[in-house]
Amino acid sequence: MIDERMVEAINEQINAELYSAYIYYSMAAWLEDQGLDGMARWMKAQTQEELFHADKFFNYVCERGGRVELTAIEGPPTEWDSATAVFEHAYEHEQYVTSRINDLVDLAIELKDHATTQFLQWYVKEQVEEEDNTSTIAEQVKMVEGTGQMLMLDREMGARVFTPSATEEEE
Ligand code: FEO
Repeated sequence: MIDERMVEAINEQINAELYSAYIYYSMAAWLEDQGLDGMARWMKAQTQEELFHADKFFNYVCERGGRVELTAIEGPPTEWDSATAVFEHAYEHEQYVTSRINDLVDLAIELKDHATTQFLQWYVKEQVEEEDNTSTIAEQVKMVEGTGQMLMLDREMGARVFTPSATEEEE
């Protein structure tokens, strides 16, 4: 049986993952409005990835005999000054998520919950990737925003497709 403190912390993380999905969905809407359809599509794939992260926590809590309790999701920002600002925000947000995952690992260790410590390693690894992806793209967008190359980057980013099985294989 999983400790109630761990369940509560994971429930808060489910909310944080859903909020992440909401932010990226809002970013997709802003990008779409700017005519950057490829980048919007990239953000929609990111949204799906966050829903997948939430669902993975959901399933884990149930598997350990805990109770998933959902709470209100805060409204996301809706305006950004530029596409560069959007992706820099995404990178900052991923750094914040990483700090939250690290806090969860700290709690699991404190509670001597080895199963959860091990389960969380998937997220630890995932966050390395999430930070790397968003920081690389933020740099690329910053380099080309305002030039003709922006359209090429937009087209290239539009090729991203979210595949849950591929994410699972990275375990
Ligand atoms: Fe769920 Fe982008 O971290």
